[in-house]
Amino acid sequence: MWANDPNGLLHHQGVWHLYYQHHPHSLQWGPMHWGHASSGDLLHWQHHPVALAPDALGMVFSGSAVLDSHNSSGLGANGSAPWVAMYTQHGEHAEHQGLAASQDHGLTWTPYAGNPVLPNPGLKDFRDPKLAPCPEAGGWRMVLAAQDHVRLYTSPNLRQWQEASRFGPLQGLGSGVWECPDLFALPTPEGDAQRWVLVVSFTTGGPNGGSATGYWLGQMQGQRFVPDSPALRWLDHGPDHYAGVTWHGTGTRRLMLAWMSNWAYAREVPTAPWRGAMTQPRELALARVGDSLHLVQQPAAELLAGPWLAVGPDALDGAPFWLQAQPEAGHGDWSISLANDAGERLVAGYERAANAFYVDRRQAGRSDFAPGFAQRAWAPRVAAGVPGPLQLWVDRSSVELLADGGLCTLTALCFPSRPWRRVQVQGSLANLQFMRYEGEA
Ligand code: FRU
Repeated sequence: MWANDPNGLLHHQGVWHLYYQHHPHSLQWGPMHWGHASSGDLLHWQHHPVALAPDALGMVFSGSAVLDSHNSSGLGANGSAPWVAMYTQHGEHAEHQGLAASQDHGLTWTPYAGNPVLPNPGLKDFRDPKLAPCPEAGGWRMVLAAQDHVRLYTSPNLRQWQEASRFGPLQGLGSGVWECPDLFALPTPEGDAQRWVLVVSFTTGGPNGGSATGYWLGQMQGQRFVPDSPALRWLDHGPDHYAGVTWHGTGTRRLMLAWMSNWAYAREVPTAPWRGAMTQPRELALARVGDSLHLVQQPAAELLAGPWLAVGPDALDGAPFWLQAQPEAGHGDWSISLANDAGERLVAGYERAANAFYVDRRQAGRSDFAPGFAQRAWAPRVAAGVPGPLQLWVDRSSVELLADGGLCTLTALCFPSRPWRRVQVQGSLANLQFMRYEGEA
């Protein structure tokens, strides 16, 4: 059935939990619930019963979850450490923030009797709380999307919140509504300092049309985020990367998951009996390009540990696969075309004249369901000089291009009428390797 944003990403005792925006009874967006799935290896996922359902206070919109290890919230039964979720209660008249607690490792959740814990101050869009531990503030920090800016709050106990600062609005960002923020630190490549990353998703105005995930790098001055530059960067240039947020409970690792769709056509994509999926989980780091720092993304190492078999370019048989290659030093044009028995093709590549990577799905199957879906999406190259390695991950109706070692990524859906069977490569790519998924489909 219908799924959008990842919610409540929580890693605990080796298990990855994914909650998500879900309509359990329809292929259309509607009364939002939190669906739930979990995984021990980020490859195999098990579905669980719906975790949160609409109640008298409204639909259950996006939010996050943390392990409250010292029971600061007091919501743990008999003083035990509860899991606490904070989410937007989308009521008939306004959006407020509420809590729910779980005593059984995230399987069942009870909304807090004192909801809402953060009432609406008079804004139409006021949602998507992302929690993080914040010892400096004596407990917790939460970042929330408020129409055309974000607000930071702190709390000692997850129940009482105090506004600490705002970021935005900023000029020149277009008309999109700010949604699904996240705020976290990453070490600099030299490992001697850290930078803060503020992630925000925008409903419209994405680099290739429609919605997209963006970010700023900066510093925290107390509880205030100060960007290195006010210029927004796109986290992924593809048309199908939205509401990207990171997992809680992963120690020094920082892993992101995003909804693989775009509000421009999410309601029309021709899939059944499901509509909406997540991107691959990606590990985030900082890389230095010249004088500036950039986010760099790699598939989570867990994905590489799966049952992959090295095969030739004609042996794809419709299973998921990924390939890697090294563009040669001069970085001339290259392209990788996926082909099927229906004469359709999807092309990922690099064009030197534009100095940009692209994913071209204009002839990759069905596109009649939404104007603009048949497109070639571009990502300008960030790195200069010697090209970094590239990976292309393909799972039947999705492609994820990670170019220049993950400095430029493009995530895109495609709907071929037959499975991808062959790969044709043109241009200057060395060390080409294909890995076909050998596990259960
Ligand atoms: C982002 C979003 C969130 C909201 C949710 C509703 O895609 O619009 O802002 O909480 O989806 O399903």
